[in-house]
Amino acid sequence: MSNIYLVGFMGAGKTETGRVIARRMGRGFLDLDDAVEARLESTIPEIFEALGEDAFREAETAELEKTILRKDLVVATGGGAFSDPDNRRLIEDAKAVSIFLDPPWEAICSRIDERDRERPNWVDDRKARALFVKRRPDYLLAEIHLELTGTESPMDVADMACSALRENQCAT
Ligand code: S3P
Repeated sequence: MSNIYLVGFMGAGKTETGRVIARRMGRGFLDLDDAVEARLESTIPEIFEALGEDAFREAETAELEKTILRKDLVVATGGGAFSDPDNRRLIEDAKAVSIFLDPPWEAICSRIDERDRERPNWVDDRKARALFVKRRPDYLLAEIHLELTGTESPMDVADMACSALRENQCAT
């Protein structure tokens, strides 16, 4: 099998779940935000502030391209990555699997503090909600859709992802 990409909004649990899936499947784990930070040697808020979101997105796509060269990774993408059609095409062309982690808005909102300065695109709850609604159709283009209640642990979500992956493999 090829790489596995976890997609979904900020606070969906992509990083925590990705780590568990990788451990269970004996794969490497990569957080795309961490890769961008390492590439630009700055934190995400600093990148947004000093270089702007476009520069962040360029670096995000470049780091995503690098992951495509591997076949053994579980990748947690940032909340905006899968909304870029070029990024989606990269994942699709690599025959990698994308998994949409889809907890309800209320669960997401309760996990993220408006004052969270780590997430420049979470300006306030109202604006974040509008972004969530706008991006949801993009996330729904993922190959696997995990509808969550938001009360599951990362282990529970990893269980769901692993069985969906098994079913997906049987179907192809
Ligand atoms: C972003 C989400 C963040 C990070 C950056 C932008 C977004 O990742 O990539 O702050 O636009 O949704 P997480 O989804 O891991 O918070």
